[in-house]
Amino acid sequence: MSKKWYDNTTVIITGASSGFGKLLAQKLVKNHNCKVIGIARTISKLEDLKQELGENFSYYPFDVSDNSKWEELYKTLTDNNISVDILINNAGILPPFKKFENTTIESVEKVMQTNFFASIYAVKNMMPLIKKSPNRAIINISSSAALSTVVGTVSYSASKSALKSFTESLALENDDFYISLVCPGFAKTEIFRSQKQGSEKENLLLQKVCSNPEKIVNKLLKKLAKKKKRIVLGADAKAMDFFTRLFPTLTLKAIKWVLKKSKVSLFDEVFLE
Ligand SMILES: NC(=O)c1ccc[n+]([C@@H]2O[C@H](COP(=O)([O-])OP(=O)(O)OC[C@H]3O[C@@H](n4cnc5c(N)ncnc54)[C@H](OP(=O)(O)O)[C@@H]3O)[C@@H](O)[C@H]2O)c1
Repeated sequence: MSKKWYDNTTVIITGASSGFGKLLAQKLVKNHNCKVIGIARTISKLEDLKQELGENFSYYPFDVSDNSKWEELYKTLTDNNISVDILINNAGILPPFKKFENTTIESVEKVMQTNFFASIYAVKNMMPLIKKSPNRAIINISSSAALSTVVGTVSYSASKSALKSFTESLALENDDFYISLVCPGFAKTEIFRSQKQGSEKENLLLQKVCSNPEKIVNKLLKKLAKKKKRIVLGADAKAMDFFTRLFPTLTLKAIKWVLKKSKVSLFDEVFLE
C-alpha cells in the first residue's frame, strides 16, 4: 500500500463505537499504523474495539454534545503530552422520519446538539492542539441530506446543512489546515435503529438502495489521501448532488414523489394525511 499523509498520525474519531466511525478506526489502526482516540457513549462497544485493536486504540466515553467533556478531554490530552493530528467529527443520529408538526422541540434540540453543536465544541477545544501538527486536519461527516433535503427529515437535514456551512466557513478561514466536508448517501449502518421496522421485502429493497458501509469508508480514505475538500459518497448522494444543482426545486419534489410511491413503512409518518 502506498504511503499516505495520514499514516502514523493520531486521530480523534467521534462515533467510533459503530458504523463509519468504527470502520474508520479499524482501518486507520490496522492499515495505516495510526493511533486512534475513539469517542462514543457505549463503553462495552468501545472496550470490544480496544480488545480488537490493542494499544493503538484508546477511548474516552462521553456524550459529544456536552462541551464540558471536550474541555476535560483537552486538559487530559495536554496534561499527558498527547498530540493530535486529525479530528474526525462523525458521531450523529437520525431521528424517525416524520412531519415537523409531529416532531417535538426536544427532539430537534437533541439532533442539533449531536449533529451540529458537538462538532463546534470539538473543533473549538481541539483546534489549538491540532494546530501544532504538520498534518493538521479536520474532517466533518455531514450527509447527502445537506446537499438535497429529504422530506420528513426537518431536524436531520437542518443539522447537517449547518455542519456543511460551518465546515466550508472554517475551511475558508484556515488555509493552513486540511478541512474536509464529507456527504455520504444512505448506508446500512446502525443509524436506522430508531426507525420504524418494515417487512422483510422492504428491508431487502432498502439494502439495495443503501451503499455498503465498508465500501463507503474505503472510498472516503482514498479521497482523504488526495486531500479532497468536498467528498460525496455513494451513487444516491452523487445523483442527489448533481440533480439538485441543476434543478433545485424539482429534484426535492421528485425525491418526495419517489418516497411516497415506494410505500416503504419507514416513511409512513411523513405521508400521513
Ligand atoms: N449511514 C448512513 O446512511 C449515513 C448517511 C449520511 C450520513 N451519515 C452520517 O455518518 C455518521 C456516522 O453514522 P453511522 O451511519 O455510522 O451511524 P451509527 O452506526 O449509528 O453510528 C453513530 C455513532 O455515533 C455515536 N453517537 C451518537 N450520538 C452520540 C453522542 N451524543 N455522543 C457520543 N457519540 C454519539 C454512536 O455511539 P454511541 O451510541 O455509543 O454513543 C455511534 O458510534 C453520522 O454523522 C451520520 O449522520 C450516515
